[in-house]
Amino acid sequence: MRLKDKIAIVTGSTKGIGKAIAAGYANEGATVVVCGRSVDLGREIADELTRRGLSAMAMRLDVTSSESIQEVVDGVVEKFGRIDILVNNSGISPVWKRAEDTSEDAWNQILNTNLTGTFLCSQAVGRVMIRRKHGKIINMTSIGGEVALPRLVAYCASKGGLIMLTKVLAVEWAQHNVLVNAIGPSYVETEFTAGLRSNKTIYEDLMSRNPLKRFAQPEEIVGAAIFLASDESNYITGQTIFVDGGWTAL
Ligand SMILES: NC(=O)c1ccc[n+]([C@@H]2O[C@H](COP(=O)([O-])OP(=O)(O)OC[C@H]3O[C@@H](n4cnc5c(N)ncnc54)[C@H](OP(=O)(O)O)[C@@H]3O)[C@@H](O)[C@H]2O)c1
Repeated sequence: MRLKDKIAIVTGSTKGIGKAIAAGYANEGATVVVCGRSVDLGREIADELTRRGLSAMAMRLDVTSSESIQEVVDGVVEKFGRIDILVNNSGISPVWKRAEDTSEDAWNQILNTNLTGTFLCSQAVGRVMIRRKHGKIINMTSIGGEVALPRLVAYCASKGGLIMLTKVLAVEWAQHNVLVNAIGPSYVETEFTAGLRSNKTIYEDLMSRNPLKRFAQPEEIVGAAIFLASDESNYITGQTIFVDGGWTAL
């Protein structure tokens, strides 16, 4: 029970990696706020966790709307009086095109969700954590924030921005005991990567760059997320842990 009695918001926990992290946190004793735009999916997940005797609730959240973010933060603070952990996991990657063919709309959509959304969530939750002089924020970046992934220019720019956002927030908020770190997966088996996995040529190309030669399961990202949320990481801030099968070591 490494997160006993902690209050955790996991953005984008209606599916994929976020859903696995929400379950992992609840198993470790946290009360988890499952959120995303699909509030019905969020409710199903929270209900299932509650049926298992764990503690969870669902809220609608759109990270591209500062009003929606503030509603979630206010709702959680009103109910629990605090937020101990924020996982900024919401993310999209809707286009796979060369830079010269990437539209301004696609660029803005990706940056707004992945980077600006994370900044706005961190800011709104950070204000609450700063008042209590306590908190852990974990940003879901990607190997794409560290190495170039062709045809993912906006995605990589957003994830590279997240690594730097993590560092600046960590340095600014260390004085308030608010610790900020990031996790950088390579490729994980979720809806997000279904298209890549179904294309044999692309799949083989990706695996040729991955020493472990396989996609991760969402549950394989959870250990790092628990570690960074727990007291075991109380002297770690501003770091990115790559959970990438060795990709960035190549
Ligand atoms: N899968 C991979 O290989 C991989 C690798 C590296 C990094 N990542 C990162 O890991 C994170 C999760 O990826 P995943 O594979 O689990 O993807 P996924 O299965 O597509 O899940 C994405 C989550 O983000 C939420 N989301 C999207 N737009 C949102 C918005 N505007 N407001 C709030 N929530 C929003 C979705 O919820 P709603 O639809 O309900 O809003 C969903 O819960 C992303 O940040 C992704 O970039 C993934």
